[in-house]
Amino acid sequence: MTIEQIIERKRDKLKLTKEEIDFFIKNYVNGEIPDYQASALLMAIYINGMDEEETANLTESMRFSGEVWDLSDIQGIKVDKHSTGGVGDKVSLILGPMIASLGAKLAKMSGRGLGHTGGTLDKLESIPGMKIELSYEKFKKQIEEIGIAIIGQNKNLNPADKKIYALRDVTGTVGSIPLIASSIMSKKLASGADAILLDVKYGSGAFMKTVSEAKKLAQLMVNIGKKLNKDVRAEVTDMDQPLGCAIGNSLEIKEVIQTLKGKGPWDLNEICLSSGAILLEQAKIYKNRNEARKELEKTLLDGRAFNKFIEFVKAQGGDISYILHPEKFEIAKNEINIYSKTRGYIKKIDALSIGEASMHLGAGREKIDDKIDMSAGIVLNKKIGDSIFENELLCTLFTNKDDVKEIIDDVYNAFTIVPEKVNVDKKLTHNIIE
Ligand code: URA
Repeated sequence: MTIEQIIERKRDKLKLTKEEIDFFIKNYVNGEIPDYQASALLMAIYINGMDEEETANLTESMRFSGEVWDLSDIQGIKVDKHSTGGVGDKVSLILGPMIASLGAKLAKMSGRGLGHTGGTLDKLESIPGMKIELSYEKFKKQIEEIGIAIIGQNKNLNPADKKIYALRDVTGTVGSIPLIASSIMSKKLASGADAILLDVKYGSGAFMKTVSEAKKLAQLMVNIGKKLNKDVRAEVTDMDQPLGCAIGNSLEIKEVIQTLKGKGPWDLNEICLSSGAILLEQAKIYKNRNEARKELEKTLLDGRAFNKFIEFVKAQGGDISYILHPEKFEIAKNEINIYSKTRGYIKKIDALSIGEASMHLGAGREKIDDKIDMSAGIVLNKKIGDSIFENELLCTLFTNKDDVKEIIDDVYNAFTIVPEKVNVDKKLTHNIIE
């Protein structure tokens, strides 16, 4: 078997065997296959696709390309949650403490932000002192003791995904459903949780632009989970406008704190409750999602979720005085208010434009090694459906950069304001696939 033959077979729309996929992964990770041949194969997969069996085989091959963590010595069902990424998505940081305060065990590895999407790790690191690298032993001990640990991708886990993802990023092959499904699932399966909930987002700020693409990806990942005997479920949720009001690292942590105290924006609250109810069912803590949802609501009102967040921050070395006194977070040098030029109702807030603007203000990175400004970002004063007067505040930009005229225009243009009233669908979950 040679890599040339494998490339040719996929070029000719043939199905790859498990042995061919294993050969590619093994030899790409050990450096025998150069990037140019791997790129050709990835492009052939991008164009000609892979069926479910090929995608499951690719997932397994990547999963076992490095260490695989075993969390079976921690009592109970370990759950994990993964979002395909979006703008203002800070759900895990709220949902994790909520479900942990009800006895669930969340074992989560998160990623960094890239392009217009933010990353949970960067948000966490905006809390001074917070450590996102824990040893395998410390990770397990923390889950056992307080029910929640969120860390960065361990470098020994799934080296195949790291290498392939970096190559996809520069060869126009990110947006392929089998490649995305195997990338996400191989990471999730390697990190050892028993049950996984996937939040597959669609809309302008997401990887998947349409509901039908998102459903396809969600169904494929759930089917791979079934094939490999894991309880994998997926929600397909709306990412047409940013989630919540804050976009940018420490700004989002402040919104996390507010939400954990029961004062969060409705959309963020809603996703945390709906995902939390599914996770508590997967963890077998509640049989009924309605009952789980009611208890989750209580954790936001009686301090249990907030106290669990403090325990979590403390366990990972973070300075909890910032959580108790969020006014301590550094505020960017420039605070720029943007006002509406007309009156009416907000019809659209383009999540992609807002995410990109936030990145240009300093909150995100264009390249993986760019440094980010924890205090930069955007806070929305209006969401879809809200009414607005002429000269009323739309949003505020926070930045340490001085020349941001173009960004101000882009942010203003991200809002569509119409004269007629706009109805809002308060159900953000389009589908649950299980
Ligand atoms: N997230 C991942 O982890 N991998 C992808 O390919 C896309 C999104």
